Amino acid sequence: MDIKMEKDISILAIESSCDETAAAVVRNGREVLSNVIDSQIALHTEYGGVVPEIASRKHIEKINQVIEKALADADRTLSQMDAIAVTYGPGLVGALLVGVSAAKAISFASNIPLVGVHHIEGHISANYIENKELKPPFLCLVVSGGHSHLVVVKDYGEYEIIGRTRDDAAGEAFDKVARAIGLGYPGGPKIDKVSREGNPDAIHFPRAKVGDAAYDFSFSGLKSAVLNYLNSCQMKGEEAVVADVAASFQKAVIDVLVEHSMDAIAKYGYKKFAIAGGVASNSGLRKAFEETCAREGIDFYHPSPLYCTDNAAMIGVAAYYEYRNGVRHGFDLNAVPNLKLGERIV
Ligand code: KG4
Ligand code: ZN
Repeated sequence: MDIKMEKDISILAIESSCDETAAAVVRNGREVLSNVIDSQIALHTEYGGVVPEIASRKHIEKINQVIEKALADADRTLSQMDAIAVTYGPGLVGALLVGVSAAKAISFASNIPLVGVHHIEGHISANYIENKELKPPFLCLVVSGGHSHLVVVKDYGEYEIIGRTRDDAAGEAFDKVARAIGLGYPGGPKIDKVSREGNPDAIHFPRAKVGDAAYDFSFSGLKSAVLNYLNSCQMKGEEAVVADVAASFQKAVIDVLVEHSMDAIAKYGYKKFAIAGGVASNSGLRKAFEETCAREGIDFYHPSPLYCTDNAAMIGVAAYYEYRNGVRHGFDLNAVPNLKLGERIV
């Protein structure tokens, strides 16, 4: 019998697009051998958000240690890697450049191919890590600090964005509202936590529809409604109940995300639905999708919270499929802060 043995593909992946310096080793696109994340959250907390200049400087300080630890944790040497993967956009340009420069230097010195990865493709691909049976096509809602996209994943590396935010991203809305109600940075996890003690029906905040585009989102009106509510409480000399404001805001975001996603699932006829990005770790959002998908007979996929927020394992997974598709980058690879999903700059 002729059994064709495929060679294992091991990828060292690097991610530095925002405020996490991360490196990972991933085998065959599904098996995470190591996943090292050095978070800068504590550093940025006193400024109430990510300070790009501080982020870049901290990435430079940490990147080599993080890469070395990723190889050590995986019990691998650099020479055992088949590719060096790196996020080259979208993100903060100075932050991206640190990872891209490190990846190019390692690739050049070791003569191992370089594969640039789109950050959002990474977020979507995080779903492959713990859901070994998940394969395209499926629909994916990507909700992070910078993006709110409804994406048709047609095949590995092949995407169509059918809905996007017209203003703030979902995570951005969480962060801004958290600041307004005095919870501080990072807003998402804090609102998630206090919402559990609040009444989601206490205040009715608007659920925005974008008239001409059924799957587009708009969160800036919701953010303004929360600010107006807080102002009106102040003018009346009343104290806003933080947990109720948080829970009611979170419910408004969740309702819109669930409604748009379920409409798209029905229209496009997919039976598989996934969520990705930092906001996908929100406990209320996961519960709402679990219940709705179960009721509608849709298979629902989501990464563990660790793989929802920024990490390099997801970049290693996306890179595997890019690598198998023949994608290789040259040493002229640059950071592209506004890189579009599906756009390949080779
Ligand atoms: O994907 P991510 O780590 O970075 C970007 O690519 O933007 O997402 C970060 C965003 C932040 O806005 C953060 O507040 C939000 O995800 N986030 C959450 C939760 N955890 C992180 N939002 C809601 N609930 C959470 N549990
Ligand atoms: Zn991200």
